[in-house]
Amino acid sequence: MDASIRFIGVSRSFGAVQALRGIELAVQPGEMVGVVGPDGAGKTTLARLAAGVLGPSAGKLQPESRGRVGYLTGRYSLYPDLTVWENIRFFGRVHGLSPAQAAAGGQRLLEWVGLWPFRDRLSGALSGGMRQKLALACAVVHHPPVLILDEPTTAVDPVARLDFWNLLRGQAEQGRAVLVTTPYMDEAEHCHRVGLLHQGRLLALDRASSLKERLPWQMVLLTPAAGTSLNRMAAMRAAGELRGQRWTQPQGTGVRVALEPGTPLAPPPGFELTPVPSNLEDAYIWLSGAAEEVRAG
Ligand SMILES: Nc1ncnc2c1ncn2[C@@H]1O[C@H](COP(=O)(O)OP(=O)(O)O)[C@@H](O)[C@H]1O
Ligand SMILES: [Mg+2]
Repeated sequence: MDASIRFIGVSRSFGAVQALRGIELAVQPGEMVGVVGPDGAGKTTLARLAAGVLGPSAGKLQPESRGRVGYLTGRYSLYPDLTVWENIRFFGRVHGLSPAQAAAGGQRLLEWVGLWPFRDRLSGALSGGMRQKLALACAVVHHPPVLILDEPTTAVDPVARLDFWNLLRGQAEQGRAVLVTTPYMDEAEHCHRVGLLHQGRLLALDRASSLKERLPWQMVLLTPAAGTSLNRMAAMRAAGELRGQRWTQPQGTGVRVALEPGTPLAPPPGFELTPVPSNLEDAYIWLSGAAEEVRAG
């Protein structure tokens, strides 16, 4: 099957800033691909290229964007002084639907995202989560085969986020190719495949489970044993002195530690060491070489 979105050796610079370098990425119909990375990694540039808003400096995109794309950004993309119902009909009309088509399709989509009971509310008066659901409905009202979302959950509370991701997955299940960027590593787990973007380069693109399996380290949690008065500072110190330790990071009341594989689990006095599954952030830290930077710095 032909990919709906394909980046072939795509680079993009802004003056001296190389925002993206040699991106190779394809999204199939029915697939949701997530691109994660911190601020400045190049996520928005990648989304804008995929949506055809921006052209590449080198390489090419296939197929060329033909306007058959739904595009949703993290920032406000609706008309705040129009109601929910007016917004979706407006977007339908802008994308060439007849008034009847816009109304019928709009109602179906509002029911789907749970906003039909709120149709007469001004969109400017919606919560962050409801607003993004409306923006999603507006982005697909014209049945685009491709849906691009740039950091869509930034202003959405954690509970509503899960809801939003379920709706997105539904979009892929209907056959759309979905490309979504996010700074939240845990959210990327909802995607069929995940690309890790670091300083404009895709470090890896694979299923989240595969990325985590590839991690060569053993992840453990170091926590003060019950009944001790050791605090997190003490835990950080103890973690730093663990044999085979590659990097440490505060987590809850304890410290998350990456150990070289095969390191025997010997908890320091007053602490417990519990093996924990690796997550995408661990994979990112490993692939980006951030652990080496921390150790060198
Ligand atoms: N229009 C622009 N003009 C100049 N620099 C830009 C522009 N857009 C993005 N950049 C730069 O490109 C890099 C990647 O930015 P961006 O794609 O916005 O990353 P992210 O969305 O991951 O935070 C940053 O260094 C940013 O400053
Ligand atoms: Mg951005």
